[in-house]
Amino acid sequence: MLYIKIERFALKGDIIYSETQEKFTCNEDSFLVCVDGRVEGIYKVLPDCFINIPVKDYTGKLIIPGLIDMHTHGPQYSFRGLGMDLELIDWLNKNTFPEEGKFSDAVYAQKAYSIFVKELVKGATTRACIYATVHMEATKLLMDLLELTGLKCMVGKVNMDRNCPDYLKEDMQESIANTREWLQETLHSYKNIVPILTPRFFPSCSESLLKELAVLQKEFNLPLQSHLSENKSEIEWVKELCPDTNNYGEAYELGGVFGKNGPVVMAHCVHSPAEEVMLMKDNGVFIAHCPESNTNLSSGIAPVRTYLDHKMKVGLGTDMAAGSSNSIFKTMVMAVQVSKLRWRLVDGNLKPLTIEEAFYLGTKGGGAFFGKVGSFEKDYEFDALVMDDDKIEHPGLLTLPQRLERVIYLSEGRHIAAKFVAGKNIFAFD
Ligand code: GUN
Ligand code: FE
Repeated sequence: MLYIKIERFALKGDIIYSETQEKFTCNEDSFLVCVDGRVEGIYKVLPDCFINIPVKDYTGKLIIPGLIDMHTHGPQYSFRGLGMDLELIDWLNKNTFPEEGKFSDAVYAQKAYSIFVKELVKGATTRACIYATVHMEATKLLMDLLELTGLKCMVGKVNMDRNCPDYLKEDMQESIANTREWLQETLHSYKNIVPILTPRFFPSCSESLLKELAVLQKEFNLPLQSHLSENKSEIEWVKELCPDTNNYGEAYELGGVFGKNGPVVMAHCVHSPAEEVMLMKDNGVFIAHCPESNTNLSSGIAPVRTYLDHKMKVGLGTDMAAGSSNSIFKTMVMAVQVSKLRWRLVDGNLKPLTIEEAFYLGTKGGGAFFGKVGSFEKDYEFDALVMDDDKIEHPGLLTLPQRLERVIYLSEGRHIAAKFVAGKNIFAFD
């Protein structure tokens, strides 16, 4: 008889998470039960059927869902905090492309990606959508390193066949052939890592390249990521490159990569006109809001309130190295801060984000791109962080939402006592 072992355990502590954008769901001093990598339930007292399961006792600590980074660049980790005085196009040409060129060298890639991955594991992120570079070998190396961590990530070999230096430019046919080969090697090779198609952005991808990627997306049933309406000069450039379309989103739609052939996440959407917003909504396109990047590159402030009012799919991204921090806690703080500036300085009709909304975006909002992820509702994948918020000392008594707000603002990604992804313990200090 086939015997299947079912993994069951519980975490005990102060549990807080988002079911809705409006308010936190709180369960003080309770048991969060995991069965086979998914949330079974939250109980004040363990029911009889779970009475003998292992319990990790984190009494007095906060238990929250793992954080989701919907948009970041692995190879750019090495120049975080450098060259922040430029706007997007100059920043790509001066900083980004020369650094990404170095990933043709496997030794350099190994060194650089090891640092990126080590820091990702230490922090509060449990899942991420990650751009690699155009290089197939280095991209596989990044996937291999990430697989060993237990984090669940989508990783993309970047595609570019125009408007970039020759040392990164691919011929269209070569780009597709390499992507196909990379997919064949990686699609079923990992437990934790999946490939995601990654046309960098419209200016660096011809329409025929996008169309071929759309075919691959459909054939292999793949997710796809790119950048959209981040910067005003970029948007003007797309208009010149694709004059017959009304907006940047339509240019992607023309290439078949705007949600009709599979799930898509677009970073930024800072300057999306109303028709582009409606096209995203109709096509179910996810938006990765990257407030630190948008501040550093003077891109602007995305109207996240509008996206939430339209009930669109939104999450948060660090977008390193345009964002300097790998912390989605910091991204939540900045999402609130820039929304306040937008409300005060740009549009008084768009109310600032609340901390509940920012936490929702960084957990359940982005988690939806990965499936049932980012919450502790029944059957969600068991991604959990145990936060030792006692270390952020306070003289009085605080409620669970107050403790969580302080963790978001003050922990800076430290004070993580344990981290679980899909029920697997990534690390624990106990
Ligand atoms: N648009 C195209 N490439 C990039 C990138 O690497 N970073 C950001 N922020 N925007 C981009
Ligand atoms: Fe980016």
